[in-house]
Amino acid sequence: MAAFTDLRRFVDRVDDLGELRTARGAHWDLEIGGVTELAQHRINGPAVLFDDIPDYPSGYRVFVNSLGSSSRTALVLGLPTGLSFRELLPLWRERSKQVSPIPMRYVEDGPVLENVFEGDGIDLYKFPTPRWHELDGGRYLGTGSFDVTIDPDEHWINLGCYRVMIEGRDRLGFYISPGKQGRIMRDKYLARGQAVPVAMSFGHDPSLFLSASVEVPEGVCEYDYAGGIRGEPVNVIRGRVTGLPIPADAEIVVEGFAYPGETNEEGPFGEWTGYYASDHRAEPVLQVKALYHRDNPIILGSPPGKPPTELTSYRGLMRSALVWEQMEKAGVPDVKGVWCHEAGGARLLVAVAITQRYSGHARQAGHVAAMCHAGAYLGRYVVVVDDDIEVTDLNDVVWAMCTRAEPEESFDLIRRAWSGPLDPRIPPERKGLNSRFVIDATRPWEWREKFPPVAEMSPELRTQITEKWAEQILGPQQPGRVPVGV
Ligand SMILES: Cc1cc2nc3c(=O)[nH]c(=O)nc-3n(C[C@H](O)[C@H](O)[C@H](O)COP(=O)(O)O)c2cc1C
Repeated sequence: MAAFTDLRRFVDRVDDLGELRTARGAHWDLEIGGVTELAQHRINGPAVLFDDIPDYPSGYRVFVNSLGSSSRTALVLGLPTGLSFRELLPLWRERSKQVSPIPMRYVEDGPVLENVFEGDGIDLYKFPTPRWHELDGGRYLGTGSFDVTIDPDEHWINLGCYRVMIEGRDRLGFYISPGKQGRIMRDKYLARGQAVPVAMSFGHDPSLFLSASVEVPEGVCEYDYAGGIRGEPVNVIRGRVTGLPIPADAEIVVEGFAYPGETNEEGPFGEWTGYYASDHRAEPVLQVKALYHRDNPIILGSPPGKPPTELTSYRGLMRSALVWEQMEKAGVPDVKGVWCHEAGGARLLVAVAITQRYSGHARQAGHVAAMCHAGAYLGRYVVVVDDDIEVTDLNDVVWAMCTRAEPEESFDLIRRAWSGPLDPRIPPERKGLNSRFVIDATRPWEWREKFPPVAEMSPELRTQITEKWAEQILGPQQPGRVPVGV
């Protein structure tokens, strides 16, 4: 059973862990965003609860960097705290095999109904929504949020974390990248000339945020996935306007419709690639028909930006596990490691280690990692290495690339792959498609046995020397190679 099913109890647990800081008086206009960036850029930086925000009642709060440390991520995933993200990967891979979705539970009431507004009573400006980055086109209420949609044909419910900008007292602009499950559902309604029912939650237990922001397989509802992680069902209430399930314990929830043909300029917004690459474009608008919030609500914020951020740390862990699992399911044997590197926003640079078993194995691994569901969207480089390479260590990966890959033979190009407006390297007129570079940095199969030996101590000699000399020469720090940032 999870120790928390709402954001407030999670904040208490973070406090118990000694990882909570409270900031009073920071302004919603850029100051909260700036402090968040400082916290996010620090490896295992603190979670921050902002209170006494100018222009807003005391108690109306913003909580950021919820999953920005390995221990807080571990707390949500039901794993031991005090380990690095790298150390969590095998543990999460093991535990995730036991996690099976638990169906959401419908209830009649919950704290989210403490304040209910409809019609003229709706005012989205009543919350201290930050303007996160200097060039943002507006105030983004939705960053650590999720949208709830239902497929009009197959009737399964999807939760997706997509950015949401305030456009008026009862209007929200929401951007969903092409190919995302929420986008496919949304486009089905719009193509038929039908209004899209959408609910959005802006503060909730981070197991929901985490589930909504990773590539949960199609057809699996993220409420159920989060229930599986928690070990108990997520309580939901049937929304009175759309009938969509909304979290009973959420802080702030809206419901409404996006109407065909109705768009507004959304963006720019600082994004996970580290750029404002999608600029501003016409995007659908949610006409909010009902607003629900708890007393003294807390916005859960997770603004993207130049890596590393919260988004690249916990999502690096989750996506590495997913890519690994999907490679295995696709029949790639002997995968020994996968790491979606922070520098690539946990998408653009993926390193995969294998024990080579047959000719062509390395290319197979690289192409599957580049194209499986968890790895396909907006990737750029996949590097396949041998199992003596530590995939989480950028230095090791690049060393293998520099010494075992030969440009003439070791690179494959995949053209016209799944990308989108957020890709900074693709010019505006060609957004939507990019290419992938699969780099085979393994020892070439045909003469792998004759490849020059590595000029480094053998593991046996390393252990001997370390035991005898490391502390005396290097002091009490860890003598092994500790990857940067994880
Ligand atoms: C903080 C944050 C913001 C995100 N914003 C967006 C966004 O604006 N649009 C988008 O398509 N995906 C965004 N994502 C990524 C999606 O949440 C992610 O791809 C997720 O798997 C989508 O769910 P889906 O596959 O069910 O559509 C964001 C993720 C995070 C963590």
